[in-house]
Amino acid sequence: MLELDNVSSAYGRVPMLRNVMLHVKQGELVCLLGPNGAGKTTLFRVVTDLVHPTEGKVTICGKQASAVGTEKIASLGIGLVPEGRRLFPQLTVLENVRLGFDAVTGGNNKHAFEQRLQETCALFPRVKERLLQGAGTLSGGEQAMVALVRAIIGQPKMIIMDEPSLGLSPKLIDEYFDITHEINRQGTTVLLIEQNAEKGLSIADRGYLMVKGQIVATDSAEALLESDVVRDAYF
Ligand SMILES: Nc1ncnc2c1ncn2[C@@H]1O[C@H](COP(=O)(O)OP(=O)(O)O)[C@@H](O)[C@H]1O
Ligand SMILES: [Mg+2]
Repeated sequence: MLELDNVSSAYGRVPMLRNVMLHVKQGELVCLLGPNGAGKTTLFRVVTDLVHPTEGKVTICGKQASAVGTEKIASLGIGLVPEGRRLFPQLTVLENVRLGFDAVTGGNNKHAFEQRLQETCALFPRVKERLLQGAGTLSGGEQAMVALVRAIIGQPKMIIMDEPSLGLSPKLIDEYFDITHEINRQGTTVLLIEQNAEKGLSIADRGYLMVKGQIVATDSAEALLESDVVRDAYF
């Protein structure tokens, strides 16, 4: 569903990603781990064509990302939760969520939107209560949930999340990971970019560890949880 084949990138002349090989198959929940500054968000930007690789290629739902372009990535059936969530604070929760639906589906079916809204809100009762409120007035935890609703409401085949739980309380983090796991069980493929190795791997099938722009380890979640390379990368 997603494949990075020997992808390198640079910011100006400074090399960032180096020969990254990463793939996510249909139905999987894959976790990309790595300490702060490792290049995880850069990988998100490469996948969404915001940063162009200097080498290698990115294939997403059978298409080359650079041929699709940032604006159309979602329409391949990809739900995105960008770093920092990026809600539109002046818009209501409902308007934010609607934008997510339109991005994936093309947005011409109002009836389908209403139905998906009901279905999705069943998983997120607190979001339902806040639909007509300005997104900027919500707590951090509520905004995180809205960003997830926005990503899944168009029934994407896959969601890609960049540190979605950052800044949440421990209790909310557990809830957030449980919901992410459930979304995957219901059939949505997930690439979860996460600094918190233990939490990420606790719900993932497989993982990749990135350090200084390179993938330094990849294995089953279980094996990575037990391995020293992950611990060493963080200290
Ligand atoms: N727009 C940019 N221009 C130059 N350097 C950048 C830019 N964005 C990120 N970087 C640098 O690239 C490195 C990787 O950043 P990032 O991909 O955000 O890491 P992570 O998400 O793993 O914390 C960092 O050293 C960061 O300072
Ligand atoms: Mg980041």
